[in-house]
Amino acid sequence: MEDKKVIWITGASSGIGKALAIKFAENGWMVAASARRENLLNELKKINQNIFPFPLDVTEVDACKLVAKDIIKQFNNIDICVFGTGMHDPKSEKKFNLDKIREIMEVNYFGTMNSINSIYDYFSEKKNGQISIISSVAGYRGLPAAGAYCASKSALTSFAESLNFDMRMKNVRVSLISPGFIKTPMTDQNDFPMPMIKTPEFAADEIYKGLVIKKSFEIHFPKAFTYFLKFLQMLPSSLYFKLVARGMKKIDY
Ligand SMILES: NC(=O)c1ccc[n+]([C@@H]2O[C@H](COP(=O)([O-])OP(=O)(O)OC[C@H]3O[C@@H](n4cnc5c(N)ncnc54)[C@H](OP(=O)(O)O)[C@@H]3O)[C@@H](O)[C@H]2O)c1
Repeated sequence: MEDKKVIWITGASSGIGKALAIKFAENGWMVAASARRENLLNELKKINQNIFPFPLDVTEVDACKLVAKDIIKQFNNIDICVFGTGMHDPKSEKKFNLDKIREIMEVNYFGTMNSINSIYDYFSEKKNGQISIISSVAGYRGLPAAGAYCASKSALTSFAESLNFDMRMKNVRVSLISPGFIKTPMTDQNDFPMPMIKTPEFAADEIYKGLVIKKSFEIHFPKAFTYFLKFLQMLPSSLYFKLVARGMKKIDY
């Protein structure tokens, strides 16, 4: 087991994280899979024996440290961490809901910080490996009825860029994953048409290529959609608001 590559994925019980766990396992990696729903992680183990459940609530700082320690103990190594835990609550976003805003930040942003905290020293001392953060194209600019989610994702995107400077000195790669719309339990809550929506398997293929083969900082997909949003990102605010407001008509406030 020692010379096998090892990846730790958080948010592995469903959607993108689940598809990614299966993709890496099928390619011979040892996959440490974390999320709160242990029953779903056990189901994953049945799909592929290379997947090992490490149940975790990422909002608990000490639990993150313990799980990271257990993974290193079991496999003697971690090559890549993909921190993909996330939540979105489109209904609550249609009004200002302070408790929800805090909860979303706690899971999406601080949950990822707790996860990074648990392996920061390990990677710093090891001087190789990769830390990857799943953010979103929703982190590029503010979108309608998604303030808390967008804010949590733009915080992650900025943090990943800063971390990249820091970790580069230590020979540790940092990557940022910015998916467009992917059909998962998270997006199943949306009540508007989602342009160019793709499957979790499509996302897993793109992420696998980006992490293992292409090795650029940002892994974004599907390209036709993400480049359009990158174009919107460059527009002056007045034009950006006008263009996006047209799309807003489809949202049922
Ligand atoms: N789907 C999209 O279109 C899309 C687009 C851009 C970015 N993303 C991002 O991609 C990531 C995965 O999203 P998804 O669409 O695959 O959604 P999903 O199917 O709802 O998956 C979310 C994952 O996060 C886990 N999670 C939530 N809270 C947690 C906590 N406190 N501790 C540990 N795990 C927790 C969930 O597992 P448990 O409930 O079992 O804990 C689940 O495995 C998220 O960061 C999301 O923001 C998604």
